[in-house]
Parts: sequence; structure tokens; C-alpha cells
Amino acid sequence: MKLTIIGSGYVGLTTGACFAKVGHHVMCVDSNPKKIETLLAGQIPIYEPGLEEIVKQNTASGRLKFTTSTEEGVDFGEIVFIAVPTPPNPDGSVDLRYVEKVARDIAAVIKGYKVIVDKSTVPVKTGEKVADTIRRYAPSVEFDVVSNPEFLREGSAVADLLDPDRIVIGANSPRAIAKMQELYAPFVAPVLVTDINSAELIKHAANSFLALKISYINHLSAICDAAGADVEKVAEGMGMDKRIGRAFLNAGLGYGGSCFPKDLAAFTTISNQLGVPFHLLSEVHNINTVQLQRFIKAIRDTLWVLQDKKLAVWGLSFKPHTDDVRSSVAVELVRQLVSEGARVTATDPKGMESFREFEPELAGKIALVDDPLAAVEGAEALVIATEWPDFAEVDLNEVKKRLIAPLVFDGRNLLDPWTMKELGFQYHCIGRNSAARS
Ligand SMILES: NC(=O)c1ccc[n+]([C@@H]2O[C@H](COP(=O)([O-])OP(=O)(O)OC[C@H]3O[C@@H](n4cnc5c(N)ncnc54)[C@H](O)[C@@H]3O)[C@@H](O)[C@H]2O)c1
Repeated sequence: MKLTIIGSGYVGLTTGACFAKVGHHVMCVDSNPKKIETLLAGQIPIYEPGLEEIVKQNTASGRLKFTTSTEEGVDFGEIVFIAVPTPPNPDGSVDLRYVEKVARDIAAVIKGYKVIVDKSTVPVKTGEKVADTIRRYAPSVEFDVVSNPEFLREGSAVADLLDPDRIVIGANSPRAIAKMQELYAPFVAPVLVTDINSAELIKHAANSFLALKISYINHLSAICDAAGADVEKVAEGMGMDKRIGRAFLNAGLGYGGSCFPKDLAAFTTISNQLGVPFHLLSEVHNINTVQLQRFIKAIRDTLWVLQDKKLAVWGLSFKPHTDDVRSSVAVELVRQLVSEGARVTATDPKGMESFREFEPELAGKIALVDDPLAAVEGAEALVIATEWPDFAEVDLNEVKKRLIAPLVFDGRNLLDPWTMKELGFQYHCIGRNSAARS
């Protein structure tokens, strides 16, 4: 099939590349000419494991094309995806200006029947608004609007797209449903067909539930520290119950990234607007905020004053295996340490370039080094902010030699507390600080 993806970011580019890999012909559109130039030059503007190879192979075979022209894109595809940003407004509601703009852009150039698919994460009823907008500006053209939420995780987006847990198709038209089923025929996954509103709600409900699981285990981590228990063991025991599951029960610094914080805020606002306030979600957010503050307090309690203290921070990306630093808790942690006067030296395997790009002011206030061992040289403490496996492989004896004092604050429970104690570190982690060894 011939497909068009409008918005070639983390979701659009990876989705487009994976559709091309399974045999479709895809045109990716982006309004950012620099991004399209980069792609046309054979380079990938983001880091996502496995993506570069797929993009290169499918560009070479002619199945994957790039353009800045919405008209060229809309003419090309029988299905046109919208995969543009849906950032939060200051009040937590969703800023839908990019989606609305694409709807108008499509309406300006649409010539015949198309299936317009919303892949951006949007509030319930956005599909209706997209349809109204296109109808207003292109009243005589036939089209259908579909909601097809995306569940990929950055860091494993290629695998998630090629082997999804489920495919949700929200549509009210049999003609559009048939097209979507043909599109997804090469994928082996359960397909759930719903109305548009339900599909839109599924995405917000799923992300909010995952955030809830993270906050649940994070609050439990504080209870474990207070009670002398080990949060990893508690999570293991809970997760063995099939009704609960072990995934997303990893205590840490809290959730961040470009999706969970904004989707939770959006769902909270949506529920308020619908007259059914979801108070539970406000508590999920509160726990997430407190979790980072509790960790910073532990650093402060040990070092007393942070002013002029040299601290090494390992990790800037919001999670491992991605270069994405948007709404990263690691970045927020660095911001707060710097605001208290600490002299931070940070490192990240993939996130330093995007950190410089998205946080230029903060980047100017800290030192960035490529090597985790160089970061700890002469530092008063090591702070682990992102659980990159690369960090777990660093020689800890060398870390100890280079630190002024053997002090480690592990915000992601990356290291083993008992090994750290045996090696002579003063080691602070999350929910395992006062547990006895089993
Ligand atoms: N990143 C994720 O992990 C993830 C997962 C699931 C869903 N989502 C959702 O998918 C959507 C996109 O997220 P993303 O992370 O890919 O964003 P992104 O910022 O990485 O990419 C969006 C792209 O859209 C382009 N764009 C904006 N306006 C445009 C226009 N009018 N025409 C053409 N291109 C335009 C931008 O230049 C950018 O390249 C959001 O709604 C997000 O919530 C994201």
C-alpha cells in the first residue's frame, strides 16, 4: 500500500521505516527542512536502536521517501498518518495546534478519498474535530478519519512496531476499517477495532495506568526504606501474581520523558472537562514529584551543603537506549543540583547532543564528558540518574579511586547494594537502604 506519514519524529520516522520494511511504500513528510535534509543525506536525526539500518535499506530500495511538501505527501498515500507533537499547555491540557494545522494542510491539498489516521496521542473527541476541520475546508472531498494510537517505547521502538502487543483501530467507517486491516495484514498481532472515541481513550488510559504502577512502586520504596524491607523483593513477590505482573514495578527516580508526564496531565484535564475528575491521577503525579525531592534530600543530608560541591551525574536521557532528554527526570535532577550551586559533570552514552540542543542554558552551566570515569574524577559523589547498562560495566574500583570519598547515590537501583558495601562504598539507593541481605 502507499502510505504517507506527516511528522517524521520518534514516532513518524520509526513507524514509516517499519511500514516500509514490511513491504509498504511510504513517504515521510516533515515541516522541518533540516530534518528532511538530514534524512535525504542518508543520516538519522534521532538515536533509536536498529532504525538506521532499516531506514538505509528501505531508502535504497525506493520504498521509503522523504519530503517537506504536504501536498506531495497527501497526493502519494492512500492512508495519511498524522504523527505530529501534542505537547502540554501550561494548565496540563493538550496543545492541539500542530494537529489542527495538519488537518488544515491536508484539507488544502486533498483531491480524492483518503483515510486520515491520527497516530499522535490526543484527547478523546479529537478525531471528530479533525474530521470537522477537513470537512470545513474541503467540503466536497470524501475521506474518513481513524484513530490508531501508538504504543511504541523509545529505546525499543523498532521491535515494538514490528511485533506489537496489539493494534488498536478506532474507526466508524467499514471502508476505512478494511484499509487499516489491509495495512496491518503483515503484522502478527491482535487487532482491536473500536469506535474513534474509545481508541483515543485507550492510549491515555494505558499510559496513565503505567505511570500509576511506577508511582505505586516508588511510594512503596519509601515504605520499604522506613520498614527495613527490600523493594526489589517486594516487587518480585507482587509481580509473580499474574494479575499484577512484574513490568513497571522498578523503583527509581520516577517517570519522565515526552509521554507519561504530559499524557497523565492531559488525562487529568480531560476527566475534569468531562465532569468526572480522576483524582487518583493527581496523586500519581504528586508521588512522582516527591520521589525526586526525596532523592535530592538524601544527597543533601549526606553532603550537607551542595554549593561548590563537584558531583558526577551518570545519565541524562529519560531512560536507557534513547537520546531523548525531553522531560527527563535526570535533566531535572541536574537542574536542581545546579540551582543549589553544585558543580556537575555529566555523561550519557547517547543523550549529550540532544541535551546540548534542548537544554542549551543548563548545558552551559555543567561540564559534559564522554567517559563515565572522567566524570567521577575528583568528584565528591557519583549520582546515577539513568540506568544505562553501560554504567553497570564501569570498573567500580576505578570509580572509588577517582572519587574524593566513596559515595554513590543510585537513583535507578542499577548496582547491587551488597557488592557496593563490600567494595567499601557508602551507597544510597531506592527502597533497599535498610534491608537485610536475604
Ligand atoms: N515518542 C514516543 O515515545 C511516543 C509514543 C507513542 C505516542 N507518541 C505520540 O506521538 C506524537 C509524536 O511524538 P514524537 O515523539 O514522534 O514527536 P517528535 O517531536 O519527535 O516528532 C514530531 C515531528 O512532527 C513535525 N511536525 C510538526 N508540525 C508539522 C507539520 N505541520 N507538518 C509536518 N511535520 C510537522 C516536527 O518537525 C517533528 O519532526 C505525539 O502525540 C506523542 O505523544 C509518542
